[in-house]
Amino acid sequence: MYNLNKVYGEGDTKVHALQDISISVNKGEFLLIVGSSGSGKSTLLNMIGLLDHPTSGKILIDGIETTTLSDGKISEFRNHKLGFIFQFSNLLSDLTVLENVMLPKQIQGKNSSASKDAKELLKIVGLEDQMHKRGNKISGGQAQRVAIARGLVNRPAIVLADEPTGNLDSVSAQNIVQLMKSMAKKLGQTFIVVTHDRHQFGDVDRVITIKDGRAFEGEESARLEAVA
Ligand SMILES: Nc1ncnc2c1ncn2[C@@H]1O[C@H](COP(=O)(O)OP(=O)(O)O)[C@@H](O)[C@H]1O
Ligand SMILES: [Mg+2]
Repeated sequence: MYNLNKVYGEGDTKVHALQDISISVNKGEFLLIVGSSGSGKSTLLNMIGLLDHPTSGKILIDGIETTTLSDGKISEFRNHKLGFIFQFSNLLSDLTVLENVMLPKQIQGKNSSASKDAKELLKIVGLEDQMHKRGNKISGGQAQRVAIARGLVNRPAIVLADEPTGNLDSVSAQNIVQLMKSMAKKLGQTFIVVTHDRHQFGDVDRVITIKDGRAFEGEESARLEAVA
């Protein structure tokens, strides 16, 4: 993405949430975006996820400039090219675990492969034996595993995760972190993960720090040492 800016509101209530952000993400990279609360992390992820429009700047995903897509094309693009994992897993409680994971494929009209692909992902995340339970009958950690399977079932160009461990106890959080990292390696899946809790993620391919809407390569501590 190039020279991305996002301004919320007008006049006295104006917030310049993102300032001239340019980041290029490599295929298969596990990129961690860190920064304190209110720094602009979710705003950035929402721009990449086409959930909101930037005020200015360009975003290219898989060589396609998404900022010029029509609204109709945006939802299609989002469904084909992006996977989402949020803080709350947002499973549909009336559907089974398996049906929840099948949904993104069914939306694409790929009904014939939906069940097979969903089962394969559920096996990878270790929930094969839970797939016929309803979405609201499993634990928070399990629900987040289902959300990961759902986010990957379309084999998107990028999986976007906003505070995916924010609602979990520390043991479940560690499991989810390890699972995402192993999925990235095993499937060559690109991840962009936002967190305010840097230490939870340990070693990752790359870290970008957001501070007051500006992006810096690397860790905040390294940057401060370089300045000192
Ligand atoms: N919809 C919105 N309308 C107005 N201001 C917003 C909106 N969303 C976020 N902001 C502001 O933009 C800044 C960045 O917010 P956010 O991206 O949510 O930060 P983070 O995810 O890092 O905690 C904050 O000052 C926040 O108050
Ligand atoms: Mg946020």
